[in-house]
Amino acid sequence: MRSPSREPTVTVCRDCCCGSTRKHPGVDHDAHLEALRGGIAGYGRIVVSQCLLACDRSNVMVVTPAPALRRAGAGSVWLAEVLTTAHIHAVVAWIRAGGPGAAPIPAELAALRSDRPALLPAGSCGID
Ligand code: FES
Repeated sequence: MRSPSREPTVTVCRDCCCGSTRKHPGVDHDAHLEALRGGIAGYGRIVVSQCLLACDRSNVMVVTPAPALRRAGAGSVWLAEVLTTAHIHAVVAWIRAGGPGAAPIPAELAALRSDRPALLPAGSCGID
């Protein structure tokens, strides 16, 4: 268990594309979210977000360093196409190790690293 000031945050997008079985059939999005919640309990926070305007990269997550590490200069890491159980396990492992600024990004997640998106125009997600 960590104090809240030492907990990284995982922002999990769940909206029109991320978490959608229409866009990602065969992915158990609810099971992934529950595995994430259970895996990082006591080590990090989860925020479930509306669309982060990067639908072309769904499922999107943003891993934000613990407050103390943010103040020390660590930055958030955007992850794209987080779609497998192995990805979820890698996020859990990273958070339990301290997350950005405390531990290197796991190799499984380094391949998913994405730039913060430019804002997309409404209706650009491609499934409407
Ligand atoms: S629904 Fe996740 S980026 Fe749009």
